[in-house]
Amino acid sequence: MKKIKVCIIGCGMIARSAHIPAYLANGGFEIAAVCDNIESSAKGLCDKFGIARYYTDATQMLETEKPEVVSVCAPNMMHKKYVMSALEHGANVLCEKPLALTLCDAEEMFLTAKKNNRILMACQTLRFLPERLAVEKMKLQGEIGDIYYAELSRIRRRGIPTWGKFHIKEFSGGGALIDIGVHGIDSAIWLMGNPKPISVSAIMNKAHTDELGNSEQSGALKGGVESSGFNPEEMNVESFAAGNVRFENGSELSFKVAWAANLPEQNNIIIVGNKKGVDTENRKVFYGSDTVDELLFEPNGFKTEPFFGHFCIADNLYNCLSGAEEPFVKPEETINVSAILEAAYLSAKEKREVKIAELRRF
Ligand SMILES: NC(=O)c1ccc[n+]([C@@H]2O[C@H](COP(=O)([O-])OP(=O)(O)OC[C@H]3O[C@@H](n4cnc5c(N)ncnc54)[C@H](O)[C@@H]3O)[C@@H](O)[C@H]2O)c1
Repeated sequence: MKKIKVCIIGCGMIARSAHIPAYLANGGFEIAAVCDNIESSAKGLCDKFGIARYYTDATQMLETEKPEVVSVCAPNMMHKKYVMSALEHGANVLCEKPLALTLCDAEEMFLTAKKNNRILMACQTLRFLPERLAVEKMKLQGEIGDIYYAELSRIRRRGIPTWGKFHIKEFSGGGALIDIGVHGIDSAIWLMGNPKPISVSAIMNKAHTDELGNSEQSGALKGGVESSGFNPEEMNVESFAAGNVRFENGSELSFKVAWAANLPEQNNIIIVGNKKGVDTENRKVFYGSDTVDELLFEPNGFKTEPFFGHFCIADNLYNCLSGAEEPFVKPEETINVSAILEAAYLSAKEKREVKIAELRRF
């Protein structure tokens, strides 16, 4: 069977460690070319995976290769430009998280996808953690009941990324919240049934920039990043964020996210409904006055792969393109995530609660 032609924009850690291995593992994709503004990065990725061609200009690549799928793996501030260009060149797009930093950008990107009849999906790959899939199943079966509260705790003790441009706002758009918090916010609102957010209140600060962990504590694979260009004096994004989101249905999500904090390491989402409450990381289900059950879940076949969620999302995309499945990460969910992120940054900056409706005035 003819393979689906893929091109990749941005040849750094996530392209090398997750996107390319995931497409190759699926077997239904052929990686035709890659692009990076740094020629040696593009060439290096080609050589490593035996990919035929590389480019330093994404438009030239899109026009020459005419890919059916594009992976956008460039830094956050370039996501919109490359997503729009890929969609307008007729490609389906898997874009790294965060897809968009504002509500209006997210809406514009999905409208462009719809207009061009193409799939656009954000790589919210941590939804595929088996314990999160188990909670989703419980929710769909009505076991949790009406969800009125959720808590996200995504804490690294010392894990500021020291490769790439994560610490520089002009490239990343923000720090811990949009880098790792975005996964938790996405998973939490998905598990809550995607209620409509109406307001956000948040605080942020920049702590512990002088006490760095190693790249593995910051989320890279061992050997997955080549060099550290980190200069703490350049860091102008938050290393800690906390706050809450109010939803139209009366529920609330409370969040705390850190690249570095004096707290225990955590990657937890707690979901509370009127029938049951679930602590996903500790795999406990609470109900009645004193019952605590183990959260049971199916083992994930890819669980041994560090970026197993990318394998799942590549498989989902393949099945979507053959009409067998719907995108696992839905536009309306990613639009709400973008709105929450934008409102959180504005709230922290202006030290007040921000209503989502305000965001449409900009
Ligand atoms: N889903 C996940 O779990 C996950 C994990 C890590 C990173 N990410 C996301 O992946 C993206 C990239 O992160 P990374 O860790 O690979 O960073 P990285 O710095 O290792 O790689 C980024 C690459 O993009 C290239 N680049 C920069 N500007 C460019 C431009 N204008 N055109 C083309 N290429 C350009 C850089 O030269 C570099 O090779 C970010 O959006 C990040 O949030 C996602």
